[in-house]
Amino acid sequence: MRRTGQFRITILGGETGFACAPGERVLVAMEQVGLRCIPVGCRGGGCGLCRVRACEGNYRTGRMSAAHITEQDEASNHALACQLYPLSDLVLQCARK
Ligand code: FES
Repeated sequence: MRRTGQFRITILGGETGFACAPGERVLVAMEQVGLRCIPVGCRGGGCGLCRVRACEGNYRTGRMSAAHITEQDEASNHALACQLYPLSDLVLQCARK
């Protein structure tokens, strides 16, 4: 169940889903419900472990290491889940290099 004003985050593969509030980072929301469907590392946009591709939905991102997310990656909807803030429901796919 999700509270009003929260977005639904679906992770392809196991079809796992969880809720994420606007302004909350996807990786943090995932950890708060005890899921491990996206790999967790530094939680600060530096290690690249939580790299995902957004298949559906809108989002904004915080500061991400250019070593792991290039401009080309961003253009193809790749992001780091620890720096990913949903602006709508999202469908994500793990995309670790
Ligand atoms: S956990 Fe290290 S970049 Fe996201």
